[in-house]
Amino acid sequence: MVRIAPSILAADFARLGEEIDSVRQGGADWLHFDVMDGLFVPNLSIGLPVLESVRRVTDLFLDVHLMIREPGRYVARFCEAGADLVCVHAEADTEEGIRAALREIRARGKKAGLALKPATPWDGALPFIEDVDLILVMTVEPGFGGQKFMSEMLPKLGFLRETLDGFGLDCLLEVDGGINPLTASLAAAAGAQVLVAGSDVFKAEDRKARIAQLRGEKTE
Ligand code: DX5
Ligand code: ZN
Repeated sequence: MVRIAPSILAADFARLGEEIDSVRQGGADWLHFDVMDGLFVPNLSIGLPVLESVRRVTDLFLDVHLMIREPGRYVARFCEAGADLVCVHAEADTEEGIRAALREIRARGKKAGLALKPATPWDGALPFIEDVDLILVMTVEPGFGGQKFMSEMLPKLGFLRETLDGFGLDCLLEVDGGINPLTASLAAAAGAQVLVAGSDVFKAEDRKARIAQLRGEKTE
């Protein structure tokens, strides 16, 4: 069964604790936390102090997506601030820099993730495949919520799934961007096991029903 990770980027930050409670009550499996630096992506979002506060109010698995340049500078602090998984972008540093960041995350006892922008082919993950617990396939250009799902990313999931299975690696596949009940079913069929959904969940009147729909459960 797929895991649903609501992205708090689409939440009302003035009521963040209640927003987190509502998706938890609604059956969210993970919570997705988007960090932007205004350099790697043309936008700013939230960072360490917010993560520390969120950690204090929830025991949900915190999936931290770093959209920042040279993430190795900050991974230790995100681990300390309460992340359960820290995901860095393959494009955000040299190969050595990314590998060092991934190893540092694991050395601190957290799960390490690698994210691929839409323009990065599936084999951009190959140099890091032994150092990751999760690969995140972006299905929009990172930086903004509420964009349209890029269905041309679906084959990337298939290639990664085959490769991971071929090597016998225990690594999750996650998708992020433009997820709604229709694109969720396409992504899951292509091999995604974790679905990030921001606007679709937080804008829904009945978040519990929406999360169930994203998971592919029948609702009345
Ligand atoms: C985009 C972020 C996403 C974003 C998804 O850069 O990484 O996590 O919140 O938002 P939706 O689900 O609205 O596309
Ligand atoms: Zn994200």
